[in-house]
Amino acid sequence: MEVIICANEEQVGRIAAARIASALARRPDPVMGLATGSSPLGTYAALKERVDAGTLNLSNATFFALDEYLGLPRTDPNSYAETIRRTFTEPLGVDPQRVHVPVGDAEDTDASCEQYEAAIAAAGGIDVQILGIGSNGHIGFNEPGSSFTSRTRTKTLTARTRADNARFFGPGFVPTHCVTQGLGTIMDAGRLVLTALGEAKAEAVAAAVEGPVSAMCPASILQFHRYATVVVDEDAASHLQLKDYYRDSFALLPQGRRPV
Ligand code: GLP
Repeated sequence: MEVIICANEEQVGRIAAARIASALARRPDPVMGLATGSSPLGTYAALKERVDAGTLNLSNATFFALDEYLGLPRTDPNSYAETIRRTFTEPLGVDPQRVHVPVGDAEDTDASCEQYEAAIAAAGGIDVQILGIGSNGHIGFNEPGSSFTSRTRTKTLTARTRADNARFFGPGFVPTHCVTQGLGTIMDAGRLVLTALGEAKAEAVAAAVEGPVSAMCPASILQFHRYATVVVDEDAASHLQLKDYYRDSFALLPQGRRPV
C-alpha cells in the first residue's frame, strides 16, 4: 500500500488527482468510481483544474458512485445522486448521462443492485475508485462486519454513521439504510485512492493501514489490493506508527513515479 502524508487538504487533493489521472490515462474510455462526503472535494477541485487546463479529458469516461441512501428519491437534496451532481458532474462539465448512482428508491432494490453490478461490468470495470473513510472504518457504506466478498446491496447504517451524517438532515430524520457497492465490488477496481482529512479519521486510518485485516475495519481490506494509495493530511496520519517510513518512501520516489 502506498501512504502519502500531506501538509494540507489542497495537497491531498492534488496528489490524489494525479494518481487518478494517470490511472484514467490507461484507457481511451476509462471508468472512474466516485465517492461523496467532504473528503473527495479537494480531489474533485484538482481534477477540475486539470480539465480546465486541458490536460485531462473526461468526455469519454463513465462514472459509478459508491452508494446512495435507501428511500431517498434522486431529486432529494441530500441524496447522493444530487450530491454527486452538485460536487462533481456540474463543476467538471461531465455529461450527466455518463454518471451512474445506485438507485435509492427502486421498486425492486435487489434487481436494481444486480443491474448496477452488470452496468459496471458492461463498462469494462472500474479503473480507479475514489474512497473516503467513515470514522468507524467503513468504505462506501460497508459497515463493520461487511463481507469482504460482498457486492452491491442494501445495508443497515450503524448508529455511529447515522450520528455522523445527522448534520445533513433535519431534526428527527436520518436514513437508516443504504444501497452500497460491496467490498468485493470495490476490490475489483484497478486502483483504489482513499483520502482522509482531520483528527476524527486518525483512528480509522491507522486501523485500515496498519491494523489487522478484519471485517471490523472494512477499509483494512485495502491491504489486500495491489494498487491502493492512501492520501492523508497530518491530522488524519497522527495515529500511524510508520509515518517516517511513508515520508521517506515519498521523498525517495523515482522521478517517473512522483505524482506531482
Ligand atoms: C459517508 C459515505 C462514505 C464517506 C463517509 C465519510 O458515510 N457513505 O463514502 O467516505 O461518509 O464522509 P466524509 O468524507 O464527509 O468524512
